[in-house]
Amino acid sequence: MARTPLEKYAEPDLGTALIPKERYISREWLEREFERMWPRTWLMAGPIADVAEVGDWFTFEIGRESILVVRSAPDRISAFHNTCQHRGYRVCEAESGHGKTFVCPYHLWAYDLEGRLRGVPDREDYPQGLPEHGRMPRVSVDTWGAWVFVHLDPEAEPLADFLGEAGEHLEPYHFDRNYALTEHITFEWQCNWKVGVDAFNEVYHVQGIHPELLEISDDVDCPIDLFDKHSRFLFKIGYPSPRWTDQKAQSAGYRDRHQVTKEMAGLLEAFGLEPGDYDGRADEIRPELIRNLRAMGEANGLDFDELHDEQLMMDVHYSFFPNLTFNISPGHFWLFRARPHPTDPDRMFWDYYNYDRLPRGSEPPPRPVHRHAVWGDGQEKELHLALRQDGDAAAPIQQGMHSAGFAGLHLAAQERRIRNFHRVLEEYVEGD
Ligand code: FES
Ligand SMILES: [Fe+2]
Repeated sequence: MARTPLEKYAEPDLGTALIPKERYISREWLEREFERMWPRTWLMAGPIADVAEVGDWFTFEIGRESILVVRSAPDRISAFHNTCQHRGYRVCEAESGHGKTFVCPYHLWAYDLEGRLRGVPDREDYPQGLPEHGRMPRVSVDTWGAWVFVHLDPEAEPLADFLGEAGEHLEPYHFDRNYALTEHITFEWQCNWKVGVDAFNEVYHVQGIHPELLEISDDVDCPIDLFDKHSRFLFKIGYPSPRWTDQKAQSAGYRDRHQVTKEMAGLLEAFGLEPGDYDGRADEIRPELIRNLRAMGEANGLDFDELHDEQLMMDVHYSFFPNLTFNISPGHFWLFRARPHPTDPDRMFWDYYNYDRLPRGSEPPPRPVHRHAVWGDGQEKELHLALRQDGDAAAPIQQGMHSAGFAGLHLAAQERRIRNFHRVLEEYVEGD
C-alpha cells in the first residue's frame, strides 16, 4: 500500500533575488502569461462528477479561453475550444448542461459531442466549402483524483508526468471515491491571481493575520518540500505554537501556555474529548487527538487505514503549478483554484471547493449549486475564519504593490514555496 511520504526531500538552491513586482501588476506580464504559460500547462477544469453521464458538459474559463468539457461516450471525456468555427460565437454560454449536440445559437451550426461539425444551414452557400478541419479545435484532456484536467496543446505531455511524484503522494486519500463536493463558490478578488496563490504557500503570516491559530498549530516547525514545479508544507495541528508563549497566553487571559484555550477546547470537542481533562497539558494533546480521530473514523465507516498517524492531525498542504492549492485533513479538504482575470492584472477569480469525507458505502449528497460572489459582498462571511482573514489580505497587498515605494517581493527562506513557484513561472514566461 503506497503511503504519503512525510520525510524531508532534498532542495535546490533558489537564490535570494527580489521578485519583481511587475509580475503582479503589469498588463505586459499578464499578456505574456497568457501567451507563454497558460497554454503550456495542465489545468484543473472541473470535477469528473460534473460529466458523469454521456452528454453532460461544463465550460472552463481561463483568461480569454473558454473550454468545453463533455462526456462524449461512457468511457470518454472530450474537450475542445468553445468557439464556433463560423463567426466565432461562444457556442455554450452557460456553465453546464446536457445534450446530444451543441448548436451555435447565432446561425445554428451544429456540432456533435466530439466537437465535430455536423450540421450547417444553407450548406451550398459556401463556394469555398466548409472549414477543412471540420470541428471545434480539440485540446488535451485527462483525469487525476476527482477532476478533469485540460491542456490547450492537443499534443501535451501526459498529466501524470506533469503532476509527477507530488501527484502520487496524494493517492492514499482516494479523492475520487472517499470525498464529496459540498460547497462551491467563485469569489472575485481584487488582486493578481498570483497573490491568490501566494496567500496559501507560507505559514509566516499566521502570527500576523491568524493569531488564534497559534493556540493549536505549529507555524514554526512546518516542513517544506519542493517537487520540481509543485510543493508542499506539512502544518502540524494539535499543540500550541512555540510562538504561543506564556506572555501571549497571559495577555489573552490564560494562566500560561499550557492551559487549554478556547481554540484548543474546540478542537478537543470536535474529536470527542473533554477539554476539562486536559488542563495544563496543552502540549500533550496531539497524540490523544490522533488516537481518537482514528477510532472515530473506524466507528463512522471512514477508512483512514492508508494514512499515517502523523497525517491525521496535519494540514497536508500541496500546491500544483500553476494555480491549485489543497488543504487536506482526513475528514475534509479544501481545494482552491486561482484564475486570472482576462484583461486586468488587479483582479482574479478564486474558486473555493469544500469536500467532505463520506462514510463507506454512503451515497454522495447532491452537488451544491455553484455560487458567484465578489469578495466583500457578504458571502465570504460563510467561510472559515482563516479563509476570511486570507481573503481580506488580498486587496491591500495588490494596492501596496502599485506604490512607487515598493520594488518587489523580499522573501524569507520560509517563503521559498513562493520563490520556487516564481522559478517555474519564469521558465515558462522568459525561457526558450
Ligand atoms: S457564429 Fe456560430 S453559427 Fe454563426
Ligand atoms: Fe492564511
